[in-house]
Amino acid sequence: MTDSRIRLDYRNVMTSAVGDENGLTDAALQAIASKTATEIERIWAEHDAGDQKWIDLPDNTALVDEIQSFASEQRGKYQDFILIGIGGSSLGAISAIQALTHPFRNLLPPDQRGGPRFFVLDNPDPEKVAATLATVDLDKTLVNVVTKSGQTAETMANFLVAEQALVAAVGKERAREQIVATTDPESGLLRKLVDQEGYRAFLVPPGVDGRQTVLSAVGMLPAAMCGIDIGGLLEGAAAMRERCKSTDIFANPAALFAAIAYLADTDKGKSMLVMMPYADALFGIADWFRQLWAESLGKRLSTTGKEVFAGQTPIKSLGAIDQHSQIQLYTEGPNDKLLCLTGVEHYRAEVRIDGTPTGIPDLEYLDGAELGTLLDRERVATAWALTQAKRPNLMLTVPTIDAAIVGELYFMHEFQTVVAGGLYGVNPFGQPGVEAGKNATYALMGRKGYEELRATLTKAPEGPDYSV
Ligand code: PA5
Repeated sequence: MTDSRIRLDYRNVMTSAVGDENGLTDAALQAIASKTATEIERIWAEHDAGDQKWIDLPDNTALVDEIQSFASEQRGKYQDFILIGIGGSSLGAISAIQALTHPFRNLLPPDQRGGPRFFVLDNPDPEKVAATLATVDLDKTLVNVVTKSGQTAETMANFLVAEQALVAAVGKERAREQIVATTDPESGLLRKLVDQEGYRAFLVPPGVDGRQTVLSAVGMLPAAMCGIDIGGLLEGAAAMRERCKSTDIFANPAALFAAIAYLADTDKGKSMLVMMPYADALFGIADWFRQLWAESLGKRLSTTGKEVFAGQTPIKSLGAIDQHSQIQLYTEGPNDKLLCLTGVEHYRAEVRIDGTPTGIPDLEYLDGAELGTLLDRERVATAWALTQAKRPNLMLTVPTIDAAIVGELYFMHEFQTVVAGGLYGVNPFGQPGVEAGKNATYALMGRKGYEELRATLTKAPEGPDYSV
Protein backbone atom coordinates (compact mmCIF):
# COMPACT_ATOMS: atom_id res chain seq x y z
CA MET A 1 0.00 0.00 0.00
CA THR A 2 1.14 3.58 -0.73
CA ASP A 3 2.22 5.57 2.34
CA SER A 4 0.82 9.01 3.04
CA ARG A 5 3.37 11.73 2.17
CA ILE A 6 1.59 14.96 3.09
CA ARG A 7 2.98 17.04 5.95
CA LEU A 8 1.13 19.74 7.87
CA ASP A 9 3.27 22.18 9.83
CA TYR A 10 1.29 24.28 12.31
CA ARG A 11 4.02 26.12 14.19
CA ASN A 12 2.90 29.49 12.77
CA VAL A 13 -0.57 29.26 14.26
CA MET A 14 0.74 28.97 17.81
CA THR A 15 0.98 31.83 20.30
CA SER A 16 4.77 31.38 20.27
CA ALA A 17 4.71 32.54 16.62
CA VAL A 18 1.84 35.01 16.33
CA GLY A 19 1.14 36.07 19.91
CA ASP A 20 -1.68 35.56 22.39
CA GLU A 21 -4.33 37.52 20.55
CA ASN A 22 -4.06 35.58 17.30
CA GLY A 23 -2.37 32.30 18.16
CA LEU A 24 -3.42 29.05 19.74
CA THR A 25 -1.95 27.74 22.96
CA ASP A 26 -0.88 24.15 23.54
CA ALA A 27 -3.60 23.97 26.18
CA ALA A 28 -6.28 25.10 23.70
CA LEU A 29 -5.13 22.49 21.21
CA GLN A 30 -5.09 19.79 23.88
CA ALA A 31 -8.60 20.79 24.90
CA ILE A 32 -9.96 20.66 21.35
CA ALA A 33 -8.09 17.38 20.74
CA SER A 34 -10.42 15.42 22.98
CA LYS A 35 -13.53 16.99 21.43
CA THR A 36 -12.12 16.23 17.99
CA ALA A 37 -11.35 12.64 19.00
CA THR A 38 -15.03 12.21 19.86
CA GLU A 39 -15.95 13.49 16.39
CA ILE A 40 -13.50 11.11 14.71
CA GLU A 41 -14.92 8.20 16.68
CA ARG A 42 -18.44 9.23 15.71
CA ILE A 43 -17.58 9.45 12.01
CA TRP A 44 -16.01 5.98 12.00
CA ALA A 45 -18.89 4.55 14.03
CA GLU A 46 -21.37 6.00 11.55
CA HIS A 47 -19.28 4.56 8.74
CA ASP A 48 -19.32 1.13 10.39
CA ALA A 49 -23.09 1.42 10.66
CA GLY A 50 -23.38 2.02 6.89
CA ASP A 51 -23.37 5.86 6.71
CA GLN A 52 -20.53 8.20 5.66
CA LYS A 53 -20.47 6.24 2.39
CA TRP A 54 -17.94 8.60 0.77
CA ILE A 55 -15.27 6.99 2.97
CA ASP A 56 -15.53 3.78 0.95
CA LEU A 57 -14.93 5.35 -2.46
CA PRO A 58 -11.17 4.59 -2.47
CA ASP A 59 -11.97 0.86 -2.33
CA ASN A 60 -13.85 0.74 -5.61
CA THR A 61 -11.15 -0.86 -7.73
CA ALA A 62 -13.79 -2.63 -9.86
CA LEU A 63 -15.02 0.81 -10.93
CA VAL A 64 -11.44 1.86 -11.75
CA ASP A 65 -11.17 -1.17 -14.07
CA GLU A 66 -14.53 -0.43 -15.67
CA ILE A 67 -13.72 3.24 -16.24
CA GLN A 68 -10.22 2.49 -17.49
CA SER A 69 -11.46 -0.02 -20.02
CA PHE A 70 -14.23 2.38 -21.16
CA ALA A 71 -11.77 5.27 -21.40
CA SER A 72 -9.11 3.34 -23.29
CA GLU A 73 -11.77 2.26 -25.78
CA GLN A 74 -13.04 5.83 -26.24
CA ARG A 75 -9.79 7.81 -26.05
CA GLY A 76 -8.65 6.80 -29.50
CA LYS A 77 -12.08 7.41 -31.05
CA TYR A 78 -12.56 11.02 -30.03
CA GLN A 79 -10.70 14.23 -30.57
CA ASP A 80 -12.75 16.22 -28.05
CA PHE A 81 -14.39 15.51 -24.71
CA ILE A 82 -16.96 17.82 -23.13
CA LEU A 83 -17.81 17.53 -19.45
CA ILE A 84 -21.20 19.06 -18.67
CA GLY A 85 -21.84 19.55 -14.95
CA ILE A 86 -21.59 22.16 -12.24
CA GLY A 87 -20.39 22.43 -8.61
CA GLY A 88 -19.58 19.03 -7.19
CA SER A 89 -20.29 17.51 -10.58
CA SER A 90 -17.38 19.25 -12.30
CA LEU A 91 -14.95 20.89 -9.83
CA GLY A 92 -13.30 17.60 -8.84
CA ALA A 93 -12.61 16.50 -12.40
CA ILE A 94 -11.35 19.96 -13.35
CA SER A 95 -8.98 20.00 -10.37
CA ALA A 96 -7.59 16.51 -11.09
CA ILE A 97 -7.00 17.32 -14.74
CA GLN A 98 -5.36 20.64 -13.89
CA ALA A 99 -3.12 18.97 -11.32
CA LEU A 100 -2.10 15.94 -13.29
CA THR A 101 -1.94 16.82 -16.97
CA HIS A 102 0.11 19.19 -19.09
CA PRO A 103 -0.87 22.84 -18.47
CA PHE A 104 -1.50 23.33 -22.20
CA ARG A 105 -2.88 19.86 -22.77
CA ASN A 106 -5.47 20.95 -25.34
CA LEU A 107 -2.76 22.50 -27.50
CA LEU A 108 -0.61 19.37 -27.65
CA PRO A 109 -0.61 17.13 -30.72
CA PRO A 110 -2.94 14.12 -30.20
CA ASP A 111 -0.10 11.60 -29.74
CA GLN A 112 1.29 13.60 -26.79
CA ARG A 113 -2.01 14.50 -25.19
CA GLY A 114 -3.08 11.12 -23.82
CA GLY A 115 -6.74 11.43 -24.88
CA PRO A 116 -9.13 13.95 -26.39
CA ARG A 117 -9.01 17.68 -25.75
CA PHE A 118 -10.94 18.59 -22.60
CA PHE A 119 -13.73 21.19 -22.40
CA VAL A 120 -16.14 22.02 -19.60
CA LEU A 121 -19.62 23.43 -19.82
CA ASP A 122 -20.56 24.42 -16.29
CA ASN A 123 -21.98 27.94 -16.50
CA PRO A 124 -24.86 28.34 -18.94
CA ASP A 125 -23.05 31.35 -20.33
CA PRO A 126 -24.26 31.61 -23.92
CA GLU A 127 -20.95 33.07 -25.12
CA LYS A 128 -18.86 30.24 -23.70
CA VAL A 129 -21.30 27.50 -24.70
CA ALA A 130 -21.54 28.79 -28.28
CA ALA A 131 -17.75 29.14 -28.48
CA THR A 132 -17.18 25.63 -27.13
CA LEU A 133 -19.58 24.03 -29.58
CA ALA A 134 -18.00 25.99 -32.41
CA THR A 135 -14.49 24.93 -31.34
CA VAL A 136 -14.95 21.18 -30.97
CA ASP A 137 -15.29 18.76 -33.86
CA LEU A 138 -18.80 17.48 -33.10
CA ASP A 139 -18.20 14.51 -35.34
CA LYS A 140 -15.45 13.38 -32.97
CA THR A 141 -16.76 14.59 -29.61
CA LEU A 142 -17.75 12.56 -26.57
CA VAL A 143 -20.11 14.35 -24.17
CA ASN A 144 -20.22 13.39 -20.50
CA VAL A 145 -23.20 14.91 -18.70
CA VAL A 146 -22.90 14.69 -14.93
CA THR A 147 -25.65 15.48 -12.45
CA LYS A 148 -26.48 13.71 -9.23
CA SER A 149 -29.98 15.15 -8.92
CA GLY A 150 -30.47 14.79 -12.65
CA GLN A 151 -32.29 18.08 -12.82
CA THR A 152 -29.91 21.00 -12.21
CA ALA A 153 -31.07 23.75 -14.58
CA GLU A 154 -27.58 24.82 -15.75
CA THR A 155 -26.49 21.27 -16.50
CA MET A 156 -29.69 20.14 -18.17
CA ALA A 157 -29.83 23.31 -20.29
CA ASN A 158 -26.22 22.93 -21.44
CA PHE A 159 -26.81 19.26 -22.10
CA LEU A 160 -29.94 19.87 -24.20
CA VAL A 161 -28.02 22.42 -26.27
CA ALA A 162 -25.05 20.08 -26.75
CA GLU A 163 -27.30 17.14 -27.54
CA GLN A 164 -29.14 19.16 -30.21
CA ALA A 165 -25.83 20.24 -31.71
CA LEU A 166 -24.63 16.65 -31.80
CA VAL A 167 -27.83 15.40 -33.43
CA ALA A 168 -27.61 18.15 -36.03
CA ALA A 169 -23.99 17.26 -36.76
CA VAL A 170 -24.03 13.46 -36.75
CA GLY A 171 -27.68 12.35 -36.62
CA LYS A 172 -29.71 10.82 -33.79
CA GLU A 173 -28.18 7.32 -33.83
CA ARG A 174 -24.56 8.39 -33.66
CA ALA A 175 -25.31 11.18 -31.19
CA ARG A 176 -26.62 8.52 -28.82
CA GLU A 177 -23.24 6.77 -28.90
CA GLN A 178 -21.44 10.05 -28.26
CA ILE A 179 -23.21 10.70 -24.97
CA VAL A 180 -22.31 9.17 -21.63
CA ALA A 181 -24.21 10.16 -18.52
CA THR A 182 -23.13 10.05 -14.86
CA THR A 183 -26.16 10.23 -12.60
CA ASP A 184 -28.14 8.64 -9.80
CA PRO A 185 -29.01 4.97 -10.39
CA GLU A 186 -32.72 5.56 -9.87
CA SER A 187 -33.95 9.12 -9.53
CA GLY A 188 -33.91 12.33 -11.54
CA LEU A 189 -34.77 13.61 -14.98
CA LEU A 190 -31.43 12.63 -16.49
CA ARG A 191 -31.95 9.06 -15.27
CA LYS A 192 -35.33 9.09 -17.11
CA LEU A 193 -33.61 10.33 -20.25
CA VAL A 194 -30.86 7.72 -19.94
CA ASP A 195 -33.43 4.94 -19.68
CA GLN A 196 -35.51 6.40 -22.51
CA GLU A 197 -32.62 7.01 -24.93
CA GLY A 198 -30.38 4.11 -23.89
CA TYR A 199 -27.34 6.28 -23.13
CA ARG A 200 -24.31 4.62 -21.61
CA ALA A 201 -24.33 5.59 -17.94
CA PHE A 202 -22.08 5.57 -14.90
CA LEU A 203 -23.41 6.05 -11.40
CA VAL A 204 -23.18 8.84 -8.86
CA PRO A 205 -22.99 6.79 -5.67
CA PRO A 206 -26.17 7.12 -3.60
CA GLY A 207 -25.71 8.63 -0.16
CA VAL A 208 -22.74 10.78 -1.23
CA ASP A 209 -23.05 14.56 -1.71
CA GLY A 210 -21.90 15.99 -5.03
CA ARG A 211 -18.91 17.72 -3.44
CA GLN A 212 -17.58 14.38 -2.19
CA THR A 213 -17.86 12.49 -5.46
CA VAL A 214 -14.48 13.30 -6.97
CA LEU A 215 -13.29 9.74 -6.28
CA SER A 216 -16.35 8.20 -7.96
CA ALA A 217 -17.18 8.05 -11.68
CA VAL A 218 -18.04 11.77 -11.43
CA GLY A 219 -14.38 12.73 -11.18
CA MET A 220 -12.69 9.60 -12.41
CA LEU A 221 -14.32 9.22 -15.81
CA PRO A 222 -13.18 12.64 -17.12
CA ALA A 223 -9.80 12.09 -15.44
CA ALA A 224 -9.34 8.73 -17.13
CA MET A 225 -10.39 10.20 -20.48
CA CYS A 226 -7.49 12.63 -20.04
CA GLY A 227 -5.04 9.82 -19.33
CA ILE A 228 -4.79 10.20 -15.54
CA ASP A 229 -3.79 7.25 -13.36
CA ILE A 230 -7.11 6.99 -11.51
CA GLY A 231 -5.94 3.91 -9.59
CA GLY A 232 -3.17 6.11 -8.16
CA LEU A 233 -5.77 8.67 -7.02
CA LEU A 234 -7.59 6.00 -5.03
CA GLU A 235 -4.36 4.59 -3.58
CA GLY A 236 -3.36 8.01 -2.28
CA ALA A 237 -6.84 8.55 -0.84
CA ALA A 238 -6.66 5.17 0.92
CA ALA A 239 -3.25 6.06 2.36
CA MET A 240 -4.62 9.27 3.84
CA ARG A 241 -7.69 7.37 5.08
CA GLU A 242 -5.35 5.25 7.24
CA ARG A 243 -4.03 8.38 8.95
CA CYS A 244 -7.60 9.63 9.39
CA LYS A 245 -8.42 6.61 11.54
CA SER A 246 -6.29 7.97 14.36
CA THR A 247 -8.19 9.72 17.14
CA ASP A 248 -4.95 11.47 18.09
CA ILE A 249 -5.20 14.75 16.17
CA PHE A 250 -1.42 15.12 16.22
CA ALA A 251 -1.21 11.98 14.05
CA ASN A 252 -4.21 12.86 11.87
CA PRO A 253 -3.58 15.89 9.61
CA ALA A 254 -7.21 16.17 8.50
CA ALA A 255 -8.48 16.34 12.06
CA LEU A 256 -5.69 18.69 13.11
CA PHE A 257 -6.48 21.05 10.22
CA ALA A 258 -10.18 20.96 11.16
CA ALA A 259 -9.45 21.67 14.83
CA ILE A 260 -7.10 24.55 14.05
CA ALA A 261 -9.45 26.13 11.52
CA TYR A 262 -12.38 25.80 13.93
CA LEU A 263 -10.48 27.34 16.84
CA ALA A 264 -9.02 30.07 14.67
CA ASP A 265 -12.53 31.01 13.55
CA THR A 266 -14.48 30.67 16.76
CA ASP A 267 -11.82 31.79 19.29
CA LYS A 268 -9.58 34.11 17.29
CA GLY A 269 -11.95 35.72 14.80
CA LYS A 270 -10.33 34.20 11.70
CA SER A 271 -13.58 33.94 9.80
CA MET A 272 -11.80 33.32 6.48
CA LEU A 273 -9.53 30.52 5.36
CA VAL A 274 -7.18 31.33 2.50
CA MET A 275 -5.89 28.32 0.56
CA MET A 276 -2.76 29.39 -1.27
CA PRO A 277 -0.83 26.72 -3.17
CA TYR A 278 2.55 27.60 -4.65
CA ALA A 279 1.91 25.60 -7.81
CA ASP A 280 -0.39 26.48 -10.69
CA ALA A 281 -1.31 22.80 -10.93
CA LEU A 282 -2.87 22.86 -7.43
CA PHE A 283 -5.02 25.94 -7.93
CA GLY A 284 -7.98 23.82 -9.11
CA ILE A 285 -7.82 21.87 -5.86
CA ALA A 286 -8.08 25.14 -3.94
CA ASP A 287 -11.18 25.91 -6.02
CA TRP A 288 -12.62 22.44 -5.36
CA PHE A 289 -11.89 22.89 -1.62
CA ARG A 290 -13.65 26.25 -1.66
CA GLN A 291 -16.93 24.58 -2.56
CA LEU A 292 -16.39 21.73 -0.11
CA TRP A 293 -15.67 23.99 2.88
CA ALA A 294 -18.32 26.60 2.02
CA GLU A 295 -21.26 24.35 1.18
CA SER A 296 -20.57 21.88 3.97
CA LEU A 297 -20.02 24.26 6.87
CA GLY A 298 -22.01 27.33 5.88
CA LYS A 299 -25.18 26.43 7.74
CA ARG A 300 -27.89 28.45 9.45
CA LEU A 301 -29.02 25.69 11.78
CA SER A 302 -27.08 23.43 14.12
CA THR A 303 -27.85 19.73 14.28
CA THR A 304 -30.09 20.53 17.25
CA GLY A 305 -32.07 23.09 15.29
CA LYS A 306 -30.53 26.21 16.86
CA GLU A 307 -29.79 29.20 14.62
CA VAL A 308 -25.96 29.38 14.50
CA PHE A 309 -24.99 30.84 11.09
CA ALA A 310 -21.84 28.71 11.08
CA GLY A 311 -19.01 28.58 8.58
CA GLN A 312 -15.64 29.99 7.64
CA THR A 313 -15.33 31.67 4.25
CA PRO A 314 -12.83 29.84 2.04
CA ILE A 315 -10.72 31.92 -0.34
CA LYS A 316 -8.44 30.67 -3.10
CA SER A 317 -5.17 32.40 -3.77
CA LEU A 318 -2.21 31.42 -5.90
CA GLY A 319 1.40 31.84 -4.87
CA ALA A 320 3.39 33.70 -5.91
CA ILE A 321 0.92 35.60 -8.16
CA ASP A 322 -1.31 36.73 -5.31
CA GLN A 323 1.66 38.07 -3.37
CA HIS A 324 1.31 40.87 -5.90
CA SER A 325 -2.42 41.17 -5.42
CA GLN A 326 -3.79 39.89 -2.09
CA ILE A 327 -0.88 39.60 0.35
CA GLN A 328 -0.87 43.32 1.13
CA LEU A 329 -4.42 42.89 2.45
CA TYR A 330 -3.65 39.60 4.19
CA THR A 331 -0.59 41.10 5.94
CA GLU A 332 -1.81 44.56 6.87
CA GLY A 333 -5.60 44.52 6.50
CA PRO A 334 -8.04 43.09 9.04
CA ASN A 335 -6.47 40.20 10.96
CA ASP A 336 -9.44 37.91 10.23
CA LYS A 337 -7.85 35.13 8.18
CA LEU A 338 -6.12 31.82 8.66
CA LEU A 339 -3.88 31.01 5.70
CA CYS A 340 -2.69 27.68 4.39
CA LEU A 341 0.35 27.89 2.12
CA THR A 342 1.00 24.70 0.17
CA GLY A 343 4.53 23.96 -0.98
CA VAL A 344 5.91 21.38 -3.40
CA GLU A 345 9.33 19.91 -2.61
CA HIS A 346 10.05 18.74 -6.17
CA TYR A 347 8.33 20.39 -9.09
CA ARG A 348 7.91 18.13 -12.13
CA ALA A 349 10.05 20.39 -14.29
CA GLU A 350 13.34 22.09 -13.50
CA VAL A 351 14.01 25.44 -15.10
CA ARG A 352 17.34 27.09 -14.41
CA ILE A 353 18.31 30.67 -14.96
CA ASP A 354 21.60 30.42 -16.81
CA GLY A 355 23.44 33.70 -16.71
CA THR A 356 22.36 37.25 -16.00
CA PRO A 357 23.41 40.40 -17.88
CA THR A 358 26.82 41.75 -16.91
CA GLY A 359 26.96 45.13 -15.27
CA ILE A 360 23.74 44.61 -13.29
CA PRO A 361 24.96 43.18 -9.99
CA ASP A 362 21.55 43.31 -8.36
CA LEU A 363 20.34 40.56 -10.72
CA GLU A 364 23.24 38.25 -9.89
CA TYR A 365 21.35 36.46 -7.10
CA LEU A 366 19.22 34.88 -9.85
CA ASP A 367 22.19 33.49 -11.75
CA GLY A 368 22.13 29.68 -11.62
CA ALA A 369 18.92 29.63 -9.57
CA GLU A 370 16.04 27.24 -10.22
CA LEU A 371 12.57 28.74 -10.75
CA GLY A 372 11.17 26.06 -8.44
CA THR A 373 13.58 27.19 -5.72
CA LEU A 374 12.53 30.79 -6.23
CA LEU A 375 8.83 29.88 -6.02
CA ASP A 376 9.35 27.84 -2.88
CA ARG A 377 11.51 30.49 -1.21
CA GLU A 378 8.69 32.95 -1.92
CA ARG A 379 6.37 30.66 0.04
CA VAL A 380 8.80 30.48 2.98
CA ALA A 381 9.36 34.23 2.85
CA THR A 382 5.63 34.93 2.75
CA ALA A 383 4.99 32.59 5.69
CA TRP A 384 7.67 34.47 7.61
CA ALA A 385 6.28 37.89 6.71
CA LEU A 386 2.74 36.82 7.66
CA THR A 387 4.00 35.46 10.97
CA GLN A 388 5.90 38.68 11.69
CA ALA A 389 2.62 40.52 11.12
CA LYS A 390 0.92 38.09 13.56
CA ARG A 391 -1.17 36.41 10.85
CA PRO A 392 -1.58 32.69 11.65
CA ASN A 393 -0.61 30.40 8.79
CA LEU A 394 -0.35 26.70 8.17
CA MET A 395 2.22 25.13 5.88
CA LEU A 396 1.14 22.08 3.91
CA THR A 397 3.93 20.29 2.07
CA VAL A 398 3.71 17.67 -0.65
CA PRO A 399 6.85 15.95 -1.98
CA THR A 400 5.70 16.33 -5.59
CA ILE A 401 2.45 16.41 -7.52
CA ASP A 402 1.34 12.96 -8.59
CA ALA A 403 -1.93 11.01 -8.65
CA ALA A 404 -1.44 9.58 -5.15
CA ILE A 405 -0.76 13.00 -3.63
CA VAL A 406 -3.82 14.46 -5.31
CA GLY A 407 -5.90 11.53 -3.97
CA GLU A 408 -4.46 12.22 -0.50
CA LEU A 409 -5.40 15.89 -0.70
CA TYR A 410 -8.96 15.01 -1.70
CA PHE A 411 -9.43 12.57 1.16
CA MET A 412 -7.71 14.78 3.71
CA HIS A 413 -9.88 17.80 2.91
CA GLU A 414 -13.05 15.70 2.84
CA PHE A 415 -12.35 14.17 6.23
CA GLN A 416 -11.28 17.55 7.61
CA THR A 417 -14.59 19.03 6.46
CA VAL A 418 -16.71 16.35 8.09
CA VAL A 419 -14.73 16.67 11.35
CA ALA A 420 -15.14 20.45 11.22
CA GLY A 421 -18.88 19.99 10.72
CA GLY A 422 -18.93 18.06 14.01
CA LEU A 423 -16.95 20.76 15.82
CA TYR A 424 -19.26 23.50 14.57
CA GLY A 425 -22.24 21.29 15.46
CA VAL A 426 -23.71 21.45 11.95
CA ASN A 427 -24.57 18.79 9.41
CA PRO A 428 -21.88 19.03 6.71
CA PHE A 429 -24.09 17.18 4.25
CA GLY A 430 -26.87 18.71 2.19
CA GLN A 431 -27.07 22.29 0.97
CA PRO A 432 -30.48 23.81 1.84
CA GLY A 433 -29.28 27.31 0.97
CA VAL A 434 -28.46 26.21 -2.58
CA GLU A 435 -31.77 24.45 -3.04
CA ALA A 436 -33.72 27.69 -2.40
CA GLY A 437 -31.99 29.39 -5.33
CA LYS A 438 -32.42 26.33 -7.54
CA ASN A 439 -36.16 26.30 -6.87
CA ALA A 440 -36.46 30.03 -7.53
CA THR A 441 -34.71 29.50 -10.88
CA TYR A 442 -37.16 26.76 -11.83
CA ALA A 443 -40.02 29.07 -10.91
CA LEU A 444 -38.67 32.03 -12.88
CA MET A 445 -38.07 29.78 -15.90
CA GLY A 446 -41.69 28.55 -15.77
CA ARG A 447 -41.12 24.95 -14.66
CA LYS A 448 -44.35 23.04 -13.96
CA GLY A 449 -45.15 22.67 -10.26
CA TYR A 450 -43.50 25.98 -9.29
CA GLU A 451 -46.40 28.31 -10.21
CA GLU A 452 -46.97 29.65 -6.69
CA LEU A 453 -43.31 30.57 -6.19
CA ARG A 454 -43.27 32.11 -9.66
CA ALA A 455 -46.22 34.33 -8.75
CA THR A 456 -44.37 35.55 -5.64
CA LEU A 457 -41.12 36.17 -7.49
CA THR A 458 -42.63 38.00 -10.42
CA LYS A 459 -44.88 40.30 -8.38
CA ALA A 460 -43.99 43.93 -9.09
CA PRO A 461 -41.90 45.26 -6.18
CA GLU A 462 -43.76 47.50 -3.81
CA GLY A 463 -42.45 50.75 -2.33
CA PRO A 464 -39.94 53.22 -3.75
CA ASP A 465 -37.75 52.49 -6.76
CA TYR A 466 -34.22 51.91 -5.45
CA SER A 467 -32.52 51.53 -8.84
CA VAL A 468 -30.51 54.24 -10.56
O1 PA5 B 1 -22.24 19.33 -3.48
C1 PA5 B 1 -23.33 19.31 -4.04
O2 PA5 B 1 -24.15 18.37 -3.86
C2 PA5 B 1 -23.73 20.42 -5.00
O3 PA5 B 1 -22.78 21.41 -5.08
C3 PA5 B 1 -23.95 19.83 -6.39
O4 PA5 B 1 -22.80 19.17 -6.79
C4 PA5 B 1 -24.32 20.90 -7.43
O5 PA5 B 1 -25.37 21.69 -6.97
C5 PA5 B 1 -24.73 20.21 -8.72
O6 PA5 B 1 -25.79 19.32 -8.47
P1 PA5 B 1 -26.10 18.11 -9.43
O7 PA5 B 1 -24.95 17.17 -9.45
O8 PA5 B 1 -27.33 17.48 -8.83
O9 PA5 B 1 -26.36 18.67 -10.80
